[in-house]
Amino acid sequence: MKAARIHAYGDANRIQIEDAPMPVLNDDDVLIRAVAASVNPVDWKIRAGYLKEMIPYAMPLTLGWDVSGVVERVGTAVTAFKPGDAVYSRPDIARNGTYAEYVAVRESEIAFKPSTISHVEAASLPLVSITAWEALFTAGGLSQGQRVLIHAGAGGVGSIAIQLAKSRGAHVTATASTAKMALVKSLGADEVIDYTAGDFAKQAKDMDVVFDTVGGAVQAASWATLRPNGILVSITDRPSEDRARAEGKRSAFVFIQPNAAILTQLAGLVDLGQVRPLIGAEFSLNDAARAHLASEAGRMTGKIVLYTGQP
Ligand SMILES: NC(=O)c1ccc[n+]([C@@H]2O[C@H](COP(=O)([O-])OP(=O)(O)OC[C@H]3O[C@@H](n4cnc5c(N)ncnc54)[C@H](OP(=O)(O)O)[C@@H]3O)[C@@H](O)[C@H]2O)c1
Repeated sequence: MKAARIHAYGDANRIQIEDAPMPVLNDDDVLIRAVAASVNPVDWKIRAGYLKEMIPYAMPLTLGWDVSGVVERVGTAVTAFKPGDAVYSRPDIARNGTYAEYVAVRESEIAFKPSTISHVEAASLPLVSITAWEALFTAGGLSQGQRVLIHAGAGGVGSIAIQLAKSRGAHVTATASTAKMALVKSLGADEVIDYTAGDFAKQAKDMDVVFDTVGGAVQAASWATLRPNGILVSITDRPSEDRARAEGKRSAFVFIQPNAAILTQLAGLVDLGQVRPLIGAEFSLNDAARAHLASEAGRMTGKIVLYTGQP
């Protein structure tokens, strides 16, 4: 089968489009014939070797950890899926990824794809949606009527986070650069702050939850926007617990794990029209290296998807 793989860590031109062996199925695995994958920043961070201390990858490694496709075959212990089912997943990043025509994924990491959107749209959702869900709801405890500040509202995670927060009835403030403000408003944000026009922390106040998707100076400036005992949830830089204590506020760091239960609930929200995918660029599998360069530039609007197979 065709796959985009690396044989050593390095820059985008390390990605090779080549013939790879078909995945070997464990008893609890589902073989998915992939229609589309999506590109997330973690893909190029893994490609560059930034996670190699955390996860000891064997080479060659197939990149990519979002997929939507059709079940081709199931392992002997699989009960919930059968050949022909349309499914989507953010699989375990310790295994070979989804920039390939076929991928083996544990049954427990798969959900039925939303029925009202295409595979290409569905492939854009799992990783960013599980991340936003865990950050806002599980770690942040965001509930109806609360105020949340979401950084990078036009990004892959931010664009879904806004919609999820609105689906819970929260009041959403999001940051974006000037040209992306209208788009972020159209995703449902109640207020949009142009972060290029001045200090966002002067405009955002009394937040119950801040969702930090940027880190660094943005995270440091975000403490001032929280109400007492409010929570700063980051997915980029682990917030200092000492700082949180000194401020009389709380903090959390989220690192995504596969979660099919969230994907099932998400599919419901998508099919109700409460969450819609935002796709900013589409590439063929052959152009995986160009897709990585687009992600690394850090200016994407929504998600990048890769076509990995026939619809
Ligand atoms: N811990 C986890 O489990 C986890 C999971 C998912 C993602 N992440 C991390 O979270 C980060 C965001 O991921 P992503 O997929 O959303 O990335 P992305 O889609 O590449 O984010 C790009 C967006 O960030 C915006 N942006 C850049 N600097 C900004 C700033 N200072 N203020 C506001 N917006 C800014 C850009 O808007 P402009 O062009 O308008 O600047 C662009 O729309 C990445 O570092 C990723 O690795 C972590």
